[in-house]
Amino acid sequence: MTVRVVTPDVTAIREAAGILAAGGLVGLPTETVYGLAANAENDAAVAGIFAAKNRPAINPLIVHVENLAMAEIYALFDDHAREIAAEFWPGALTLVLPLRPGHGLSRHVTAGLETVAIRCPAHPVAMALLRAFGRGIAAPSANRSGSLSPTTPQHVVQSLGDSVSMILAAGKCAVGLESTILDLSTPLPAILRHGAVTRADLAPFLGEIADAIHTPDAPKSPGQLLRHYAPRLKLRLNAEQALAHEVLLAFGPILGKQATPSLNLSGNGDINEAAANLFDMLHQLDHMAMNLPHISAIAVMPIPETGIGFAINDRLRRAAESH
Ligand code: TXA
Ligand code: MG
Repeated sequence: MTVRVVTPDVTAIREAAGILAAGGLVGLPTETVYGLAANAENDAAVAGIFAAKNRPAINPLIVHVENLAMAEIYALFDDHAREIAAEFWPGALTLVLPLRPGHGLSRHVTAGLETVAIRCPAHPVAMALLRAFGRGIAAPSANRSGSLSPTTPQHVVQSLGDSVSMILAAGKCAVGLESTILDLSTPLPAILRHGAVTRADLAPFLGEIADAIHTPDAPKSPGQLLRHYAPRLKLRLNAEQALAHEVLLAFGPILGKQATPSLNLSGNGDINEAAANLFDMLHQLDHMAMNLPHISAIAVMPIPETGIGFAINDRLRRAAESH
């Protein structure tokens, strides 16, 4: 299959909705990362996502919806969940909630769980496709399982180009990290994945918040157990400078001249700019190193734990541990 990378005008959106209705896959921009979209109610289409990504069947998908009314077709909301959705949607927050009986989702979407992960994305193209299609869209990040999430259309082509027929290309994703996942299906709400919506953002709406990643007996996001977010090169975190066998991923002003190839997540230390650049720069450094046989690792300068910085460090630690 040859992939078509298209400008998402009205005609392209209509065509993409037709591909979804026919059980096909579409590369879809969201504000977080690019998704690999399929009709969430069609077994064969959702199975196609798992095949294209080589994703383990135990790892459930996020259902994307146009609004709260569409979300309530699939999940059971109480008033508290509605309040949180009203506050953070559309946006980079995924809610895990009990499945509504008669929900109609493909059984592959939830990987046999009694809950479903749902999000209303804040991207005009994703919203336009949801409006045109009129039903839930299952969409994991549009990369092969275990590798870096895509934040540009080119990343999607590189990772999945031969298994998707059309990519709606809308440039670089503004957030650049996957959504925060908040589990509201348990007595104690838990953050299953950190993202742009932080614990501090959520705190006013929740009492105590558990962190499932560090709480062994709390329910976990199945995807968090798997190898994740891996560039090809090794990562060395909290590095002040690069060693002879390293390229540098900098943050903030760099003093002196860098001997090694380097990229800067944000020259003026803007944490949101750093998040938006993270996956693309890891991709770029991996590419650069292909022509530099003496390079085997990326030295990453310290990133502050403020705002989305917590999520950046979470992704970096996972990437470092996966080698
Ligand atoms: O920002 C995002 O969330 C992007 C864009 C495309 O929306 N999507 C994304 O999907 O990152 P994916 O499949 O790469 O990550 C989904 C995560 C996985 O870790 C999965 O285990 C978790 O959501 N998940 C899905 N359903 C769940 C459920 N019912 N309970 C707990 N975790 C769930
Ligand atoms: Mg993913």
